[in-house]
Amino acid sequence: MTEKTLRRHLTESALDPNLIFLLEDIASACRVVANRIRNGAFEGNLGSADATNVQGETQKTLDILANDEFERICANSPRLAALVSEEVEEVTWLKEPEAGDYLLYFDPLDGSSNLDVNLSVGSIFAIMQVQSDADRSVLRAGRKQVCAGYALYGPSTTLVLTTGSEVAGFTNESGTGDFRLTHPAMTVPQETSEFAINTSRYRYWDQPVRRYVDECVAGEEGIRERAFNMRWTASMVADIHRILTRGGVFLYPADSENRAAGGKLRLMYEANPMAMIIENAGGAATTGHHPILDIQPTGPHQRVPVIMGSKSEVDRLLRYHKADS
Ligand code: AHG
Ligand code: MN
Ligand code: MN
Ligand code: MN
Repeated sequence: MTEKTLRRHLTESALDPNLIFLLEDIASACRVVANRIRNGAFEGNLGSADATNVQGETQKTLDILANDEFERICANSPRLAALVSEEVEEVTWLKEPEAGDYLLYFDPLDGSSNLDVNLSVGSIFAIMQVQSDADRSVLRAGRKQVCAGYALYGPSTTLVLTTGSEVAGFTNESGTGDFRLTHPAMTVPQETSEFAINTSRYRYWDQPVRRYVDECVAGEEGIRERAFNMRWTASMVADIHRILTRGGVFLYPADSENRAAGGKLRLMYEANPMAMIIENAGGAATTGHHPILDIQPTGPHQRVPVIMGSKSEVDRLLRYHKADS
């Protein structure tokens, strides 16, 4: 059997042709970024740049290169009005915004602390639309996303996309360079026994998160019906991809150390796109109190607490947060 190409999948889906052009440009950017990562050691691109981004992180050389590749390749899309990137403080306007134009939000390289140790990294993106001519607002709730996706640069390069209902997974075929539909209609398994959280932050956690993780660790010797396993890749893309494939829950919650900043992960280009994918795959995504997709943003680089994955586990965490408030 020959899996269909991304182009065929998109053209069969009755999307606006300008959105298809943009998605094909994003796929090209992901292919190019995958190669830049793969050849990073030869091109002298591993390690840190002498620069800091708007969130105060030291930028890796590849953070900047990946941002520039996305910008260069996607600027080719005629109806792309603006870019919001983790690595660029201000919104980048490419044209005068007209109603129906597209806005691209992206994390060009996610998990970049993994680069120097040759572990999985990814790119995350979301697309929204300009509401009316000359409207320069980019701060829209995640429910307004018309598309969300990520690329995972692992043993193979995988592109996962949702343009509304289904979540589709494509694998990059070496040779042709095509993305081919290898994982149609992805759903988050509900029967799960895995959780993903940076447990070194235990001392900062709120009581509901401690309670949940303590119960998972105790397994069937506590109140849970089974033993749980823990995995943490330090790349949200890799951790979410595992959860989309195998089920489980991913947490980067508010804690006493990150609360003043709003959390750790960024709403517009990390939490929102992943929340749309997880919800469309039958899972749930919350801050612990509210659905992530309903948050009205106040800034392009705003941070947010994140709990997402299999619905039954997210519901349990919501109950624990409610009981504590
Ligand atoms: P980025 O590399 O784009 O700045 O994102 C890193 C994020 C996310 O991918 C991951 O889940 C988390 O930071 C890792 O945090 P820890 O360093 O606490 O493990
Ligand atoms: Mn970063
Ligand atoms: Mn990231
Ligand atoms: Mn990043």
